[in-house]
Amino acid sequence: MSSSVEVPASDTGAAHPLEPLSAEEIGAAVTLLREQRGLADTVRFSYVALDEPDKDELDAFDTSGAIERRAAAVLIDRATGTVSEAVVSLTEGRVTAWRDLDDVQPALLFEDCFDAIIAVKEDPRWQEAMRRRGITDFESIQLDPWPAGRFGLDVEAGRRLTRVLSYVRHDEADNGYAHPIEGVLVYYDFHSGQVVQVDDYGVVEIPPECANYDIEHVGALRDDRKPLEILQPEGPSFRVEGHEVLWQRWRFRVAMHPIHGLVLHTIAYEDGDRVRPILHRASLSEMVVPYGDTSPMHAWKNAFDAGEWGLGRMVNSLTLGCDCLGAIRYFDAAMATERGDPYVVEKAICVHEEDYGILWKHVDMHTGNTEVRRRRRLVVSSIHTVGNYEYGFFWYFYEDGMIQHEVKLTGIMQTMAVAPDEQPRYGELVAPQLAAPNHQHLFNFRLDFDIDGKTNSVYEVDVEAVPAGADNSFANAFVTRPTLLARESEAQRLVDPARSRTWKIVNPSRHNRVGQPVGYKLIPGSTPTLLASPDSSIGRRATFATKNLWVTPYSRDEMRAAGEYPNQHAGGGGIPEWTAADRALDDTDVVVWYTFGVTHIPRPEDWPVMPVEYTGFTLVPFGFFDRNPSLDVAPQEHCAHD
Ligand code: CO
Repeated sequence: MSSSVEVPASDTGAAHPLEPLSAEEIGAAVTLLREQRGLADTVRFSYVALDEPDKDELDAFDTSGAIERRAAAVLIDRATGTVSEAVVSLTEGRVTAWRDLDDVQPALLFEDCFDAIIAVKEDPRWQEAMRRRGITDFESIQLDPWPAGRFGLDVEAGRRLTRVLSYVRHDEADNGYAHPIEGVLVYYDFHSGQVVQVDDYGVVEIPPECANYDIEHVGALRDDRKPLEILQPEGPSFRVEGHEVLWQRWRFRVAMHPIHGLVLHTIAYEDGDRVRPILHRASLSEMVVPYGDTSPMHAWKNAFDAGEWGLGRMVNSLTLGCDCLGAIRYFDAAMATERGDPYVVEKAICVHEEDYGILWKHVDMHTGNTEVRRRRRLVVSSIHTVGNYEYGFFWYFYEDGMIQHEVKLTGIMQTMAVAPDEQPRYGELVAPQLAAPNHQHLFNFRLDFDIDGKTNSVYEVDVEAVPAGADNSFANAFVTRPTLLARESEAQRLVDPARSRTWKIVNPSRHNRVGQPVGYKLIPGSTPTLLASPDSSIGRRATFATKNLWVTPYSRDEMRAAGEYPNQHAGGGGIPEWTAADRALDDTDVVVWYTFGVTHIPRPEDWPVMPVEYTGFTLVPFGFFDRNPSLDVAPQEHCAHD
């Protein structure tokens, strides 16, 4: 029995240009595209989403209330491979922009993947490879299509390609990743609908041990967990208007984008009588999972889970009292199926409050008086299942002006079968005859700062020791060394824990009461960058992951760190392409691109399902406020001293 309660949706949603498209609007956009473009039966919708208004449009809305509702769509004709980008004005009832592209590949389609699975199972070469391994029940085999990458191979030329991996399931609910079928790699062309190549690199015994983790399979459950209930008898402290969330001094808008996933807009803090903007837009821009094994079965494995799969399309429908506890307000997400039918993922975004220990405390040693305040945070989250893996994206807002993002990684690792006496060089054993290759999960977040206005500057701030000398006779001194990142070529940076390196985003024309420009600091976590060579295929395609921090001037079309179409892309798209112009960054509308993540050396404890691993970053106010902004948080009733 759960004490969690769902906070009902209110109907007070005022029309706003950043409200996500409703299911009705998605349906209307698809109808207009069909009517006005005469779409062939073979055309599929990669995505349909709000065509987000530019900042000028939002400024105009603030003064005039004028809204043009527009949908952006990417379509692909399965028969010809032609990709089309369209903009539909729902306000005007017409398609206002259309562009055909012949040399790009949008994210994989579910329909294509289902067709690939059917075709592979009917392919005599694959069937023969299975028989060589003693497998005759093809129906029970799990097939996982993967983005194919791009390695300059003949098989890739002119094809919309996937590579397909095979796994044994002993029954329908069996965990297939416990039984990888090593050695068999299938290439399937979505465009022609043909299996184009079946490679067999040799038989390795299929790991026999099952690894299921549901309550039927894990033995006796521990019985020493007493109930822990979250009670909010008066409901939550936030309110919601449309997709805007207002909590204490914070306000922002939430949305679920089919590619980027969870998106926050217009993050602002109410400071006295001013509503002070901090971030115009914040979301994942791309992510990549490169694998470090050299064998032909695994060396090609990379997944751009945003651009190659559509992270937002993979969003979970959450369950009350399981994914979040307390008084929960959910947001549904409206999307389009690949055939253009609107549908709604219920409970796609969770908003709730959490107690988070103490906010601040001091005991006055003279009087014995104690002042202590409890800290709360507002949590906005979504969880996405991409094949074997789960990614949770959690934004936290705190009462002292801090904002934090945390990615929670869980689910099941990629696996490979190894001979009984084999120690894998590029991975770790996680169970008998079963290894998981070393890999990385690298996330790039696009952070469009608008601190107290659009024009901001970015500084790298190192802390360094001062050499001993006449002015440092105790040899104890250390100073901050701020460096303005004045151009794009100077704003391609790495973390440096030995120098306590942070990056500070300031508004140079707004100052606090001690004369500092108001700002926020990006505090990196311990984070790797891409380990693959920059000259490798993945190094060229995921250049964003070779640095932790990039800064660009705002441009409406620059949204995804590896470009709009990373699937099968030769490389060089996105950040390396834009920053080649070496644009000026000082006192302008800056966008910060921050790459972080984990290098995952698999553990036996990560098997068969991974306990959540965390990675992320923190944004703290640095001179944004004149003093601790959380002094006005009231004490708990019984903690107030009299
Ligand atoms: Co991992």
